[in-house]
Amino acid sequence: MDLQLRGKAAVVTGASRGIGLAIVSALVDEGMRVVAGARTVTPELKATGALCVSVDLATPDGPARLVAEGVAELGGLDLLVNNVGGGDSGEGQTGGFLGFTDQQWHDAFTLNFLAAVRTSRAALPHLTGSRGALVNVSSTGARTPHAGPVTYTTAKAALSAFGKALAEEFGPHGVRVNTVSPGPVRTDMWESPDGYGAELARSLGMAQEQLLAQLPTAMGMVTGRLVAPAEVAALVAYLASPLAGSTTGADHVIDGGATKTV
Ligand SMILES: NC(=O)c1ccc[n+]([C@@H]2O[C@H](COP(=O)([O-])OP(=O)(O)OC[C@H]3O[C@@H](n4cnc5c(N)ncnc54)[C@H](OP(=O)(O)O)[C@@H]3O)[C@@H](O)[C@H]2O)c1
Repeated sequence: MDLQLRGKAAVVTGASRGIGLAIVSALVDEGMRVVAGARTVTPELKATGALCVSVDLATPDGPARLVAEGVAELGGLDLLVNNVGGGDSGEGQTGGFLGFTDQQWHDAFTLNFLAAVRTSRAALPHLTGSRGALVNVSSTGARTPHAGPVTYTTAKAALSAFGKALAEEFGPHGVRVNTVSPGPVRTDMWESPDGYGAELARSLGMAQEQLLAQLPTAMGMVTGRLVAPAEVAALVAYLASPLAGSTTGADHVIDGGATKTV
């Protein structure tokens, strides 16, 4: 299937590894010209052929700078993917509400919500010009805010609501806005020795490998495995495509069947 994205211009945030890297690869494979932002430019990101921008998206001006560099490099913008998120995986993330400090709330909302607000503010004037698309990467945690660090899940709930609001406001100007909500995806968030998965395993008194092996069943993932980053990327590429011309204001769950409600 030709997604009709060839030659179009995209900016992707949080692109150096994991889901963001998979999204960049998928969009480049579809013939898009991509500007990719993260703090680190990894060899894997460089190898995609995207233009890599080193940027801290948790700073007030980082998001707008990334979009400005993208627009300048690409001569316009057809797609913004707000993928950056996650954040502090250190000790305390698996405790309850009373353990979270103001700083942790601030950090979680800055990376998972405000970064998307800021990139969107910078990108939407260009997306209205091109009748483009915007995709936010949220989480099933937005719908199950008790299952995960409450700072993160409520920031993702705000992001999902934000996407719906943008779809309403900018739909009449030709911009489609959609949300993708993954369940557990096989990335550093779960696999790295200093990621959230490692911290969760420690708090449960089990080995990280054991946690990862049991997670699909524990989460009710009927596919029996974690989601692959490329599977999320394929969904994002579809949503970016003119083939999805009537899909806007939607929130697409991709979680191996873990969500049991309709
Ligand atoms: N993995 C999951 O199970 C899962 C499930 C649901 C939703 N999600 C969401 O999917 C998105 C991607 O997650 P992932 O698992 O791929 O995460 P990841 O493997 O931890 O990658 C995060 C990416 O964001 C970049 N990043 C982090 N902080 C940044 C900052 N301050 N400025 C610029 N870039 C920054 C990282 O690069 P640098 O460190 O080089 O900056 C990296 O490229 C996130 O929004 C996450 O919440 C993930």
